[in-house]
Amino acid sequence: MSALTFPILQVLSDGKFHSGEDLADRFDVTRATVWNAIQHAENLGVEVFSVRGRGYKLPQAVDMLDEQVVLTAIGEQRAWFNLQLLDEVDSTNSYLMKQAAKGAPHVTCVAAHIQTSGKGRRGRIWVSHLGASLTFSLLWRFNCGAAALSGLSLAVGVALMRAFQQLGVQGVSLKWPNDVLYDNKKLAGILIELQGDMDGPSAAVIGVGVNLRLPEKVLKRIDQPAIDLASIGVGVNQGELLGTLLRHLAEVLRTFEEDGFVALRAEWLSYHVYHNRPVRMLMPDGRDVHGTVRDVAEDGILLVETALGMQRFSAGEISLRTGT
Ligand code: BTN
Repeated sequence: MSALTFPILQVLSDGKFHSGEDLADRFDVTRATVWNAIQHAENLGVEVFSVRGRGYKLPQAVDMLDEQVVLTAIGEQRAWFNLQLLDEVDSTNSYLMKQAAKGAPHVTCVAAHIQTSGKGRRGRIWVSHLGASLTFSLLWRFNCGAAALSGLSLAVGVALMRAFQQLGVQGVSLKWPNDVLYDNKKLAGILIELQGDMDGPSAAVIGVGVNLRLPEKVLKRIDQPAIDLASIGVGVNQGELLGTLLRHLAEVLRTFEEDGFVALRAEWLSYHVYHNRPVRMLMPDGRDVHGTVRDVAEDGILLVETALGMQRFSAGEISLRTGT
């Protein structure tokens, strides 16, 4: 670990060459200390070009999270948020789950430049690298128990869609329960972890990962078709994206806690890529169930018309694919 790694990466984030000597002078350390800090960055998976006579350089410019940019994009509600921007963490969800258990306040948001063990749904890993994806988690405390939160993950999808629309990102849709797709490829994912009693007060840690600019070698490590904002021509600043997402999350979560998912259901259906389309449900026991998606219930259960009639599917271990 080197305390200088991220200050140096901040300098290198312009994508230009910076000599070891300049960096050493700037931080009042030796060139060997700069080299050690760069080594740590490389251990974290950051590619740093090192060219004799020219210095160090990132493959391309990276926009680092800036607190002021995030707060400005949140807008009027910004004072409400307890925002923590971390350089590196295992997983913003794991970190915030621990903070929540220790009493972190409602509406705490933790974002990180690098996650070393990002988690996806169904035990997957969420691959992320510096500048490649926006990774953050939001803590929301509910008076109701965890049992009443079954539609929450779909509600969060609505917030993401509203944020993408505000930012002018066209052609994005949702896939039940809560994948954000573009051209049938995954653009963003949501992982919600709960704390508390089934019927007492509860807390949700809502983790969101948005692909920003995935290098080819990162894309190859992802086990499903994925896409990023850069390749669909969206060059939004990471802080502005985070602030916009938080603003819409807060609005949607307030609607959800007051009126439940039912208040967001029609909007969710309008975003669902498989609405009234044939699908194949991959069941945990290896079976395939074919049918046509007809609706979603107030608790987020998917209603699929099959040969056996209307069947209800709850998220968890089920995977949804196009049926054609
Ligand atoms: C999915 O599988 O679609 C869910 C992906 C969720 C990834 C985000 S990144 C920020 C937060 N921290 C994690 O470890 N996971 C979530």
